[in-house]
Parts: sequence; structure tokens; C-alpha cells
Amino acid sequence: MEYTLLLVDDEEELCLALGKRLESMGYIVYTATCGRDAITVFRDIKPRIVLMDFILPDTNGLELLKQMKREIPDTEVIIITGYADMELAVKSFQCDATDFVTKPFGRDNLEQALDRATQKIFVRRRLQEYAENKAMREMVINELVNEDVLVIGADYRIVDINTSMLSKLGVEREAVIGRLCYEITHRRNSPCAGEDHPCPLIQCFETKKPSQTTHIHLDKQDREIFYSISCYPIFENGQVSGAIELSRDITQELNSQKSLFQQSKLVSIGLLAAGVAHEINNPLTTILTTALLIQEDIDPENPIHKELGIIASETLRCRKIVTALLDFARQSKPVRKEHNLKELIDEVVLLTRKQAAFKDVSVESECLSDMVCVQADRGQLQQALINLIMNGIDATDSGGKVTVVAGICPDPKYVEIEIRDTGKGIPKEEMDKLFDPFYTNKKNGTGLGLAITSGIIAQHGGVITVRSQPGQGSIFTIRLPLRQDAANAL
Ligand SMILES: Nc1ncnc2c1ncn2[C@@H]1O[C@H](COP(=O)(O)OP(=O)(O)O)[C@@H](O)[C@H]1O
Ligand SMILES: [Mg+2]
Repeated sequence: MEYTLLLVDDEEELCLALGKRLESMGYIVYTATCGRDAITVFRDIKPRIVLMDFILPDTNGLELLKQMKREIPDTEVIIITGYADMELAVKSFQCDATDFVTKPFGRDNLEQALDRATQKIFVRRRLQEYAENKAMREMVINELVNEDVLVIGADYRIVDINTSMLSKLGVEREAVIGRLCYEITHRRNSPCAGEDHPCPLIQCFETKKPSQTTHIHLDKQDREIFYSISCYPIFENGQVSGAIELSRDITQELNSQKSLFQQSKLVSIGLLAAGVAHEINNPLTTILTTALLIQEDIDPENPIHKELGIIASETLRCRKIVTALLDFARQSKPVRKEHNLKELIDEVVLLTRKQAAFKDVSVESECLSDMVCVQADRGQLQQALINLIMNGIDATDSGGKVTVVAGICPDPKYVEIEIRDTGKGIPKEEMDKLFDPFYTNKKNGTGLGLAITSGIIAQHGGVITVRSQPGQGSIFTIRLPLRQDAANAL
């Protein structure tokens, strides 16, 4: 199938090279180098797929995305960006971008994004066929095994549901047909509403055109799940008699974007750190020894004696930061071997208990299985766990508890390790900054612990996420692939 594709990028060389590559992949490629040209070409050729740079000389990608979606909602838009920004990724997905690719991107990233776009075009076409032809119903909605599909009448009652969604809800078809959609999917007793949780059906009925929105749902463990929801109107005698609602869980996609962003930040800061830290270490040692030498010659009663002490202790603090920076910059590729997860965690727990005892905080571990083995660099994984446990201890008042829980997660290809604490928790507005290098709320913090930890986990092909209730504690979750082949596939 040949698709028309519009490529928008202000770097002409890139446009040319990428355009050639896309043509060799079978696309009919048009190019534009600014937003105004892009819209003119867009209206002219109505491309199925748009691939565009986020930063353009006369506008930005988000505005262009919104405008294109307004004019032809079916267009698949893939955003390319040179700088890493999570908020931007979320916003783009909320405006129904198909994908988000960070520069410089490899052939694989691009191909994956384009595959996703062509897959979506296929799904849309099948749904359109369904909407126009009732006889095709079962065949079409059950063919979409990767999507959750509901057919809903104008009175919000469910007319049909596909097998994939039934198994996610864990109910029988009979229990769902004829019930209200908001009751089944949201356990609400009135239709979805409001800016954060708009009802995609209403819009679809009003405009008689496909509509799109994003909903954030909480799963059984209070984790945020991002759903991209699309609605397609079904026409009967010229009237909209219902809609097909398609929901796709995009949480995984967003999380992997998140760790990609983090990695690119870490690489640049790592390079900088390696250079600077080395240069700073020597003069710091000179300051420290000189201060201590002068101090020896001064009467302890003299106020200068105490001030020299301050110079020495602050210099020591700088050295601590520099050492952490060097650790951070030195992050080598992990040397993975098979290790028993329970043993590895038990060692870490023993190591951190002493520190915790000073604060009267207990550290416990619960391994759901003795037998789970991980392919990991022992030293690195332990360092990651220690960083998380120490943070948990820091955040917890006396009498509190830090627990490390490990076990196989619902997807048997992965293992999950949770570090839970009963501490002060993390305010929502701080969540996005936690993993940034140098972000710290502590007087003596380096702000590098979580940056190093997330780097280690990414190197192991895993992801780290966090959830927290201010006042009730935090849970950091590490998800690691269980087998080497699973890790390579990532
Ligand atoms: N378990 C936790 N509970 C509350 N806040 C936390 C927790 N873990 C990390 N943080 C916050 O994240 C910040 C960054 O952590 P980190 O990168 O380890 O640096 P540091 O520990 O040196 O401050 C901490 O200063 C703290 O504000
Ligand atoms: Mg820390």
C-alpha cells in the first residue's frame, strides 16, 4: 500500500536525506520547511501521514498538529523533536499524535513509528467499513485484538464489545451488553464530563465526525494508566445512531519515552561531569589540607579555629558531590550475569539497616519467590537499590519502615522490585523533577542518586516509575526484563 506522507522540517539537508529514505520505503513523499508551507501542502495533497519537526521557524509542532487534526482528524501525525521533554510528549499524545520520536533517531525508531501509523490507518479504515455495514460487525471488532472496542448506542448503552476488552474487564459478554458505558468502564453513575475527563461520545454525536481524547484511569494498584480514546460515529438513515469507541493503553509508550528522555539528558550531563569533576578534585584537596594545616597551628579557643573547621567540612561536602559526579560519569556498560534476586536484595537490606537504625527506621524485604534469577550487573543493581532505600530512609521519621518487595509482575517476562516507604511522600509538582541530575531537597544532598539509578535501570533494559501519596509514603518500582533475550528485544 502506498501512502502519501508530508515531511516538515526546517533543516533542508535532513528533509532531503530523510525524504529519500522514506521514498525507498515506498511512501510518496512531499516536503515543507516551515509551518505555512506545511499547511498549504497539507490542504493540497491531504497526506495520510505527517512527519514533522516540533520546532519550526514560524510555529511549533503542537499548533500545527492541532490545526491538521481539526481539518482532517484521520491524519496520522508523528512529531520529531530535537530536545527531550516529557510534558510535550504527553500534550502531543493528548492531541492525538500517533507517535513521538526523539532526534537523532535510528532507523528502528522511525520504522516503528511509521508501522504504528499504518496500523492505525488500517484500523480506522476497518472501523469505517464497520460503521457503514452492520453485517461486518463481529468480524471487524474481534479482528482488532490489540485494541479495546466498544459499540455504544446514542443512549450510552453498550451494543457490542470485543473479546480483548471483555478479557481485560474480566466479565462475560452478557453482563455488559445493554448496560451503560460509564457504569462499566468507569464505575460512575453519570456520563463522563469535565475538562480532565471529557466524554468523547458527546462530541462525536454533536459533530457527526470522529473524535479523540485522553483519559487517565487508576488501576487496581492506583497506578495512572493513560488511555487514548477514539470515537467513530455510526450512521443509520443519515442520523448518528451510535458510536464505536476504541481505547488504547498508551502508558507503556509514555513510560518508554520518559526513560529515553532521561537517558539523553544523562549522557550529556555525564560527559560534562567527567571533564569538570576531575579538574575540581585536586584544588579541593589542596583547600582541605591547607585549612586543616592552618587549624593545627591555631589555638582552639580562637574563633578562626572554628571558621577553618567550617571551610574544611564544606570542602568535604564539595568532594562528596564530585565523587558522586565521577561515579555518575563513569557509568559503564553493565556486565550481566545471572543472580538470585532474593540473595542480592538481602545483602542490600543488611548494608542499609545500620544507617536506618540511627534514625530508628526499619528495613525489611519480602521476596515472593526464592527462585527468581535476574540477568544483571550485581554491583550496579545493588547501587540502584541502595540509592532508593537510602532515599526512603531519608524521607521517613523514626518508627517508620522501608520495605523492598520483589516478585514476578503480571507480565511474566518481567520482574518487579518495589521500594516502599512510610515517609513524607512526594508532592505532585515535584514528581517530574525527581530524576533530574542535581535535583535535591536535602541540605546535604547531591541530587544524583535517582539520576544514577534511572541510568542503571535503563542500561539493564528496565524502567523505573514512582507513585506517592503526600503524607503516606512513596513507592519506587523497578521493572526488569527476566531473560537476556527479553532484554535484547527491548
Ligand atoms: N522515597 C522518597 N520520599 C520522598 N522524597 C524522595 C524520595 N526519594 C527521592 N525523593 C526526593 O527526590 C530528591 C532527589 O533524590 P536523589 O536523586 O536521590 O538525590 P538526593 O538524595 O541526594 O537528594 C530528594 O532530595 C527528595 O526530595
Ligand atoms: Mg538520594
